[in-house]
Amino acid sequence: VTEAQADIGVIGLAVMGENLILNMASKGFTVAAFNRTTSKVDDFVTGRAKGHTILGADDLPTFVSLLKKPRKVMLMVKAGPAVDAFIEMLAPLLDEGDIIIDGGNTHFPDTVRREKALSEQGLLFVGAGVSGGEEGALTGPSIMPGGNPAAWPALKPIFQTIAAQVHGQPCCDWVGDGGAGHFVKMVHNGIEYADMQMISEAYSLLSGVLHLSASEIGMIFEEWNKGELDSYLIEITAEILHKTDDETGKPMVDVILDTAGQKGTGKWTSVTALDVGAPANTIAEAVFARILSSLKDQRVAASEVLRGPDLSDEGDFDTLDRATFTEQVRRALYASKICSYAQGFQMMELAAAEYGWTLNFGAIAQMWRGGCIIRAAFLDKIKAAFDQNAALPNLLLDAYFTQAVDGAQGAWRQVVATSALRGVWTPAFSSALAYYDGYRQARLSANILQAQRDYFGAHTYERVDKPRGEFFHTNWTGRG
Ligand code: NAP
Ligand code: ATR
Repeated sequence: VTEAQADIGVIGLAVMGENLILNMASKGFTVAAFNRTTSKVDDFVTGRAKGHTILGADDLPTFVSLLKKPRKVMLMVKAGPAVDAFIEMLAPLLDEGDIIIDGGNTHFPDTVRREKALSEQGLLFVGAGVSGGEEGALTGPSIMPGGNPAAWPALKPIFQTIAAQVHGQPCCDWVGDGGAGHFVKMVHNGIEYADMQMISEAYSLLSGVLHLSASEIGMIFEEWNKGELDSYLIEITAEILHKTDDETGKPMVDVILDTAGQKGTGKWTSVTALDVGAPANTIAEAVFARILSSLKDQRVAASEVLRGPDLSDEGDFDTLDRATFTEQVRRALYASKICSYAQGFQMMELAAAEYGWTLNFGAIAQMWRGGCIIRAAFLDKIKAAFDQNAALPNLLLDAYFTQAVDGAQGAWRQVVATSALRGVWTPAFSSALAYYDGYRQARLSANILQAQRDYFGAHTYERVDKPRGEFFHTNWTGRG
């Protein structure tokens, strides 16, 4: 008879699962391990897991019998059918009140569906976004759990111990019901796409306008990382820019092909933004930017045909001082970044209303502070903003951010104007500014849209001088 002694069981011994198990064991937890291909269990137990409180199981019933009650089973398998397959096999082996956690990159509607189905069977299901890749899993990831809240008291001591810690606080807290955990992880990735795109635009401007070398830009990014832009992505970009290719002796960035790939979480974020009516244009722009970059052959052909601005008379730019423009780009990057985070949080607020979740935005900012890819120092300011006003409708309306963007906007407009005049491609900087200029206007041009809709389709309109909700139609042509 096997003794139930494991605090938690993990299924899926690929990169993430193995490292998460080693992390749990290093924090004093006893962990049961299982994998579909059971030879991997033996390899793990006799290899990396040796000497740790890790118990391998060769079949699922044995794995389940190793777990203390309420049993906690964490799936770290490929998102999709693998998760459903394991749930189907596990459910008959578990008892009421036992917990299944899906720690993969699952699309949140799948989590909503699974949580509902399992709660009808008396099982508690949690969808946990886990971010930080291989290293984060081993040393402390950001964990965003959501689903059946009855599972949280049993999971909290484990998850909050193995998560990254920043300012003495874990980068893990309960996110909300249903698919809220995976939803928040998805938005994290959308924001990550925008962050990455904006950093590459700053690089384009410094290289395309000021003609700086990769290592010169690397030094600028190192400086930026000491201030309000302090973040993991700025830090690694500085390192990337200093790296030389062994084969050619050129900067690595100059030999890397300019076509970006994607696994799809940024696309999910953008599609969901459209679904919930959230104006996350900068995040979507970052996805479109990757797509445009992937059309390399078309771009190469178009570059022979389509002309950019005539730069033969560069007199207008003679006054462009290197230090001044560099500082303007830094400010433009910070203001654009604020707008993309504002869009991400605004999107979470709109989704929470749509899906009936109660989200704690200050806690989400703390969860993203460490362990994950976006971990930016300014998330402390975001946390402070939502701690002060949990119902803040937009980050831009918090006093710190209002002033930060206002202080940067002169430089930001200069940079976007310069990029337009020079023909430098800066879709995220420009779309962030468009978001700012749209959001801050009491009256937009949508009156024209409404008139057009009423003209051709009798879609009706509301009037500025009548109560909202009263609709009018005009006979625009005078015809019957
Ligand atoms: P992965 O390559 O996504 O998945 C491999 C694991 O899934 C193996 O244990 C494999 O078992 C199992 N698996 C695949 N298809 C299966 C099926 N049809 N039935 C049963 N088991 C199946 O592994 P990973 O990179 O460690 O990621 C695990 C999860 O974490 C994924 O959802 C991933 O998106 C997410 N994630 C990954 C990262 C990262 O940086 N890699 C970061 C955050 C989150 P076999 O050994 O038997 O093939
Ligand atoms: P984490 O949250 O731990 O960082 P992730 O969400 O799986 O892990 O991925 C983080 C980033 O690494 C994503 O930007 C992802 O790229 P895309 O979604 O842009 O494709 C990238 N990434 C992760 N696994 C990858 C893989 N196997 N191939 C290419 N890119 C990968």
